[in-house]
Amino acid sequence: MPLPRRRPQPGVLITFEGIDGCGKSTAADRAFAWLRERGDMVRLVREPGTTPTAEAIRDLVLLSKNSIDAVAELFLYEAARADLMASQITPALQRGEIVLADRFYDSTTAYQGYGRKLDLAMVNKLNRFATGGYQPDLTLLFDLPLDIAMERRGKEPDRLEKEPRAFFERVRKGFQAIARREPRRIVVIDATASADTVFNQVKRTIDAAFRRWKRT
Ligand SMILES: Nc1ncnc2c1ncn2[C@@H]1O[C@H](COP(=O)(O)OP(=O)(O)O)[C@@H](O)[C@H]1O
Ligand SMILES: [Mg+2]
Repeated sequence: MPLPRRRPQPGVLITFEGIDGCGKSTAADRAFAWLRERGDMVRLVREPGTTPTAEAIRDLVLLSKNSIDAVAELFLYEAARADLMASQITPALQRGEIVLADRFYDSTTAYQGYGRKLDLAMVNKLNRFATGGYQPDLTLLFDLPLDIAMERRGKEPDRLEKEPRAFFERVRKGFQAIARREPRRIVVIDATASADTVFNQVKRTIDAAFRRWKRT
């Protein structure tokens, strides 16, 4: 399984990606508890959100009853990301911590690029601008057919979850396309399996990456 090479910064950034309901938060929470138990310095963040400013943007972008222009939406996600990067992720990585992110810029590429059909080159450029060029060391993509994801989601849909089915089909295909382009960074996990099976694969993948980075 090809994995990304250890990056020069002392910390490690691991991101959890996929469509709504695919099991990202379940896996990220469990990975956080597992790594903390092992004694690692680990931090769990979510996008959009985590910092007060980014959480305010999250409420705006996910809960607003008003329509939001697609370009404006893109900038809101990037604004939330820039704030989280500057105030938490970058300093934590510089201190050598493990940062787990429940969504990161691949979600912007998938949702705003493939889903909203905004210019992909511009989306990539803004992603780089918001992150200062930092890339995840490892990305876990939880891939799941739409029907199963929608069943699992259950609760009241947020503003994005109200989008039509075709939108989410584009988003899922977008994630798959991103994973094909960066096979060293992104590991695709079959999310149809049970939560335990999925988490075992998450652990194996993270352990393999740590061995490769010579960090145990
Ligand atoms: N592998 C799995 N099999 C069955 N149900 C799952 C699995 N992983 C998560 N779930 C359940 O599916 C729902 C959505 O999971 P969640 O982790 O919140 O997804 P996401 O954060 O990707 O939207 C939750 O109710 C969760 O308990
Ligand atoms: Mg979630």
